[in-house]
Amino acid sequence: ARFWLVIPAAGIGARMAADRPKQYLQVAGRSILEHTLQRFLDHPALRGVVVSLAADDPYWPVLAVASDPRIRRAAGGRERADSVLAGLEALKSEGAADDDWVLVHDAARPNLALEDLQRLLDSLADDPVGGLLAVPARDTLKRAGADGRVQETVDRSVIWQAYTPQMFRLGALRQALAQALRAQVAITDEASAMEWAGLAPRLVEGRADNLKVTRPEDLQYLQVLWSEPR
Ligand code: CTP
Ligand code: MG
Repeated sequence: ARFWLVIPAAGIGARMAADRPKQYLQVAGRSILEHTLQRFLDHPALRGVVVSLAADDPYWPVLAVASDPRIRRAAGGRERADSVLAGLEALKSEGAADDDWVLVHDAARPNLALEDLQRLLDSLADDPVGGLLAVPARDTLKRAGADGRVQETVDRSVIWQAYTPQMFRLGALRQALAQALRAQVAITDEASAMEWAGLAPRLVEGRADNLKVTRPEDLQYLQVLWSEPR
């Protein structure tokens, strides 16, 4: 299936607490955002990309990838969901149709394996709703009480961690996100907007090392991953 891509990259990386937003930190000779984009730019089914950026972002224009003709910019918003919605709106001006597939992928998730991307595309090509890469919970899970004591052990077999890319039809996703934002529902990924609209996104199992770089130790983990031959 051919697809469009939106990369929300307008966050400030508060938890990373670096001298710049984490998507612009250098790992293995390039910024995290460039690593992230490269995985998709190498894919033959990619139609076009919108990167949602903070206003006055000084780091993007100097990247080599900024001049790639397949990439457009959009103005990021206050929350991730605002940035994604702005990206989806910008795709319309690129000629994207409501029935087209769009993938949304975190700028800060640079270790997506090509096999995972391909499995997502293949698994959902005929799906009426769409879905997301996700990883089954690995650890034993506890529900905590306000007193910091275990109330119960949760059934792990039905719990998944939501990753990206997340893949939906452009029109359906735009509508679900816009409505959820208007209703001020907490939306931390695209799937939660679709769920709020009454739909059931499909979980596609992916690799756990498709990590979102969030805290300083994640950067070290990434460096270790990439110091092995890939
Ligand atoms: N993001 C965005 N617009 C926002 C907030 C986040 O485009 N208003 C993007 C980030 O750039 C990142 C992705 O959404 O690629 C996932 O968000 P997160 O990991 O939370 O990144 P930050 O918000 O930058 O980090 P933090 O929450 O620690 O500040
Ligand atoms: Mg954040």
